[in-house]
Amino acid sequence: PLPSAFRVPLPVPPVLKPVSTSGGVDRYEITQRVESAEILPGHRTPLWTYDGTFPGPTIEARRGRPVSITHRNELPVPTVVHLHGGRTAPDSDGYPTDLVLPEEWQEGHGAHGGGHKMSDPRAVVTRVTRRYTFPMDQRPTLLWYHDHRMDFTAPAIWQGLAGLHVVRDDAEDALGLPSGRRELPLMITDRAFADSGALVYPAIDRTLRTRPGVRGAYLGGVLGDVILVNGAPWPVHEVDAVRYRLRFLNASNSRHYDLEAIGPDGRRLDLVQVGSDQGLLAAPVTHRRLPIAPAERYDVVVDFADVPVGGMVRIANRLGSGRTGDVMAFRVARRAADGSRVPRVLSTDLPTWRRSEAVRTREFSFRAGRMHGDHGWLIGGLPFDPARSDVKVGLGDVEVWRLVADVHHPVHLHLVGFRVLSRSGRKPLPQDAGLKDTVSLRPGESAEIITRFDGYRGRYLFHCHNAEHEDMGMMANLEIT
Ligand code: C2O
Ligand code: CU
Repeated sequence: PLPSAFRVPLPVPPVLKPVSTSGGVDRYEITQRVESAEILPGHRTPLWTYDGTFPGPTIEARRGRPVSITHRNELPVPTVVHLHGGRTAPDSDGYPTDLVLPEEWQEGHGAHGGGHKMSDPRAVVTRVTRRYTFPMDQRPTLLWYHDHRMDFTAPAIWQGLAGLHVVRDDAEDALGLPSGRRELPLMITDRAFADSGALVYPAIDRTLRTRPGVRGAYLGGVLGDVILVNGAPWPVHEVDAVRYRLRFLNASNSRHYDLEAIGPDGRRLDLVQVGSDQGLLAAPVTHRRLPIAPAERYDVVVDFADVPVGGMVRIANRLGSGRTGDVMAFRVARRAADGSRVPRVLSTDLPTWRRSEAVRTREFSFRAGRMHGDHGWLIGGLPFDPARSDVKVGLGDVEVWRLVADVHHPVHLHLVGFRVLSRSGRKPLPQDAGLKDTVSLRPGESAEIITRFDGYRGRYLFHCHNAEHEDMGMMANLEIT
């Protein structure tokens, strides 16, 4: 029996305290371990967690101040941590074969904890702990960290391995956007539960050790029938009748949402977008509906001033039906003063790469195909292989990439932010504004993106962030030389 909507209070994930802040670096420790939590009222759900909670603890970082996190793996499987959207050196970027093995792990489980036994001579495997360093030399934004293990990213995230990582700076703080209690991170995920309260995931190999992939009906991606926000089912949050900054992240494996805020009179409230995956827009963009694909972030201001006290504002999902048509709700509890504002100019540092600067244009298809004799998802006709070099770009080069989709594919590049130039030859959508790290390719669409590959030399990735597609081959190596 599922809980009725808008009864469970919205949790806000705890902010992690550093174990040390000396030497200009914030040092953290996170233990990955099995823990159970009460997600559905009256039931215990066993989870794989970062430090015992789902979502994991939030990291609060300042631009230019490095963060170092030592992860300890007490889970029954190898893990890999990736900071999504981070400008991170390759050795801390969580390459899928750079495993942190559990204490007891035996080699017989497969060289990479995966069934393909692909040899990757460059993999850096550690036992039990690994330190990840994040320079935080990047625009302020909402990042997230999640598991990225070869072949098994999707079930690991599903089991709970995801957390938030916020980057801030003085310029953003000075804008006067809603802050403190009036800024809320909202990590949206869908999950399916058994009667016992356990999560259900249709893995071919239930031990999540050898053979990757999901069973037939789920090849397109695994969907759950329960919508969680910050780990709570269809939660409700009490607000003042003022502006709030809502930092949406779609951390679902494959579910897309089309969000809208519906007031008690049935009218839609404006969703004033101030930021995207990679931080503030140049100027706010007002939406009535906001589609959000897996891994995308939208930083949105909603003003509850016109909602009567006691009134409920529903965050609905137009792509859902029945209960998946609801996400969460806000109940306006009281009138209050509002000192916040949404300036007309939000940022002036967005890169403006021009086509004429591009030294190369490449094209990649994202399509279904065969992988090791099974159904797979391919980039340029090939399934992922860590031993193969797919794309080599020169450090500092500007390139235009044309991405072509069969079905819906949210395409993510590690290390760099990019701008969307066009969609199927037409101009980008309003929500493509700003700097992105994930672009939602719609069925049959081709999108052009432009970026400069700077930061670090080394081996990175690009892939579909439908996590099941990613595990079933839709990933490629991006080598910066
Ligand atoms: Cu959010 Cu390569 O991932
Ligand atoms: Cu995909």
